[in-house]
Amino acid sequence: MISTSYLSDAAVALANDGWCLVSGFLDDAQTNALAQECVAMHDARQLLPARTGADRTASVLRGDSTHWFASEAMSGPQQMFTDRMDELRLVLGRELMLSLVDCESHYAVYRPGAGYARHLDRLRGSDARVISAVFYLNRNWQDTDGGALRLFLADGSHHDIFPRAGTLLLFLSGMYEHEVLPATRDRMSIASWMRQRAFDAAD
Ligand code: OGA
Ligand code: MN
Repeated sequence: MISTSYLSDAAVALANDGWCLVSGFLDDAQTNALAQECVAMHDARQLLPARTGADRTASVLRGDSTHWFASEAMSGPQQMFTDRMDELRLVLGRELMLSLVDCESHYAVYRPGAGYARHLDRLRGSDARVISAVFYLNRNWQDTDGGALRLFLADGSHHDIFPRAGTLLLFLSGMYEHEVLPATRDRMSIASWMRQRAFDAAD
């Protein structure tokens, strides 16, 4: 039984600030298993150039390649991650009184120089995505490697989060524009969205 008390702390931080960092979400072995699988799938060309927007058109906004976790084809590491994310989803739903019905996740790899322009994590016409979660898989990441996720805050300032292995960032999908700055090395993450039922959903 994994303790969820620190996940409750994340709920408080999310309620107060609209975003937070969670440490210890997965242990090193679990994080490494995901990183190794992501590298292997990328090497096997199983990640595809990402699309943006409800119409999923090719985009110049983002330069990453992704692989969506699919319930009928979930690997061991993906299932472990999904189970853990579901625990977090249940805690956040309970503590924040949100109806978070499911979660979708994908691996993303940004090659050197690739980024994702400033955007909001809401597909056009849909308010399904409530909480964005980004889990990072990169060991020995230095600030000089670049690749920060830049979160734009309401007061006009911004906060840079570097994609170090084990870091989990949560933020309210409808509230924070953000961008991925280019890096000098391959940059791996898992992006997840906890969703509510949306009646105008385009996805
Ligand atoms: C996204 C995104 C951030 C990251 O996929 O929408 O903003 O750090 N990803 O990978
Ligand atoms: Mn995003």
